[in-house]
Amino acid sequence: MQHFIEKMPKAELHVHLEGTLEPELSFQLAKKNGAELAYKTPEALVAAYDFHDLPSFLNIYYAGMNVLVEEDDFYQLTFAYLTKARSQETLYAELFFDPQAHTSRGISFDTVITGIHQAQVNAEKKMGIKSQLIMCFLREMSAESAMQHLVLAKPYRNWLVGVGLDSDERNNPPVKFAEVFSEAKAMGLKLTMHCDVNQQNSLMHIKQCVSDIQVDRIDHGINSLECEVLCELIKHKKLGLTVCPVSNQFVVQSLTSDEIHKMLKKDMLVTINSDDPAYFRAYLNENLIELQKEGKFNQNQIVTLVGNAFKVAWLDNATQNDYLQQLHRYVSQHI
Ligand code: ADE
Ligand code: ZN
Repeated sequence: MQHFIEKMPKAELHVHLEGTLEPELSFQLAKKNGAELAYKTPEALVAAYDFHDLPSFLNIYYAGMNVLVEEDDFYQLTFAYLTKARSQETLYAELFFDPQAHTSRGISFDTVITGIHQAQVNAEKKMGIKSQLIMCFLREMSAESAMQHLVLAKPYRNWLVGVGLDSDERNNPPVKFAEVFSEAKAMGLKLTMHCDVNQQNSLMHIKQCVSDIQVDRIDHGINSLECEVLCELIKHKKLGLTVCPVSNQFVVQSLTSDEIHKMLKKDMLVTINSDDPAYFRAYLNENLIELQKEGKFNQNQIVTLVGNAFKVAWLDNATQNDYLQQLHRYVSQHI
């Protein structure tokens, strides 16, 4: 099963580029940029990772970003992730980035997005891994700041496939950003929002995403299972759910395999993703392998989870079908 998962063609739809910053690269960039790190070695940094809920993770995640300063830093970050993803047979990835976490430190929007974009172009050329970019707004910041960043993004419209919403969910509901998401939709961008597992008002936030914001996808969304009518609506609208098992484990002490089984039983379009793989020490393969072990998923169920990611990816039908055919060719040779 492990080999079957490792070699399977895959897609990743929920990964934060800043969450792919490996300690070794962090130290390299800190030295180059003269940035202070609180730990002496990459090993000591990893040993200090202590996450038990969303805020405790976010504190460490934002502190880590201080080493990202120049355009080439964003290039290296992105290229390193895409190299790692390709080595795990990830053929396609949709990448989140958090521009407000950089502009708030005095780094220009252009620096961030140009570094990322150039890495995407070169990675596709050199390694054949295709990727698209999703700009996330930080939900604890104001709706005005989100709108200012959407305006900043307008000259780069063609480098983006969608917008998302992440960071601290407490007291920051989806409707706070209704206007900016409506404007993004008018720009032709796809919409998604985080509804992390077991947050305050999770269910209400998912309902707002579906009914008020009219998202095209939901990030996490595990708590939708608390409402049968909502599950039916998500299924009816064919909304993908980007679940991140290892990330969930830090909050609910389980890889949420029972919940993923329930979603599969309901024919909901659940997908498996890595979220912040450098921090959670698990890329896509490790997420799938650990999940399979906990939930005893069979090969067909793993194929459904991986196939769902290609089905709900923001790609044209021809490209999507091409990936799905590659997956089915692989499966017919290995089952
Ligand atoms: N930003 C990076 N990772 C996140 C997560 N898991 N939830 C919310 N915001 C995030
Ligand atoms: Zn996330």
